[in-house]
Amino acid sequence: MNAEFWDTRYNPATGFLYGTAPNDFLASQVSRLPRCSRVLSLGEGEGRNAVFLAKLGHTVHCIDLSKVGLEKAALLATENGVGELVTTEVVDLDKRCSGSGGGDDKLDCVLSVWCHLPSDLEKRVLGMAAKALKTGGLVILEHYSPKNIGRGTGGPQDADLCIDPVALKNVLAEVGLKIVSLGDEVSEGKMHQGMSATVQLVAQKV
Ligand SMILES: C[S@@+](CC[C@H](N)C(=O)[O-])C[C@H]1O[C@@H](n2cnc3c(N)ncnc32)[C@H](O)[C@@H]1O
Repeated sequence: MNAEFWDTRYNPATGFLYGTAPNDFLASQVSRLPRCSRVLSLGEGEGRNAVFLAKLGHTVHCIDLSKVGLEKAALLATENGVGELVTTEVVDLDKRCSGSGGGDDKLDCVLSVWCHLPSDLEKRVLGMAAKALKTGGLVILEHYSPKNIGRGTGGPQDADLCIDPVALKNVLAEVGLKIVSLGDEVSEGKMHQGMSATVQLVAQKV
């Protein structure tokens, strides 16, 4: 899906596509973050997770393909009094992660919630995350697994856009991220009707 697709979906006239409450998995894991963490949120969309983190005192840089989504994110942050903690940047991860450039080892967390990418790009993005994190920094990720295909509960129907837990373990080992917890579960989806198969990951730079 390209920027135009997401800009259309995020039309401000239709409210917040994913609501303004944070992702449940992020909320369950947020206590792992040190105070005043620096977070990079991949595919942040309309800002619900960034604003949640900023209200806890964390600084969040949001990147996304969608200019419309990020404008909503910036406005949501301002309305919640955390505009100074949330920055936005229209970025295509495919372009951002196209080289072998080094990271700056400064981030406490890289967040990816439902930011489904082709598997080759996902691997490059996790490599970028590993470089950008401080030692001890965390990747927090929730994506659909291929087991979700055909359940009729939303999410990508292309297996290459989902995260296969076995392949994920291999990629994490390759890029130097250690698994802290990896759930591969079917549970009631928050934003979708019915039972969804998702991968929930916390990984650490060691
Ligand atoms: C399903 S939405 C999830 C939005 C948000 N993380 C949330 O949970 O509310 C996926 C988001 O990923 C973004 N995205 C998809 N491919 C991308 C890419 N190649 N580079 C940057 N953002 C991308 C889309 O623009 C969209 O906002």
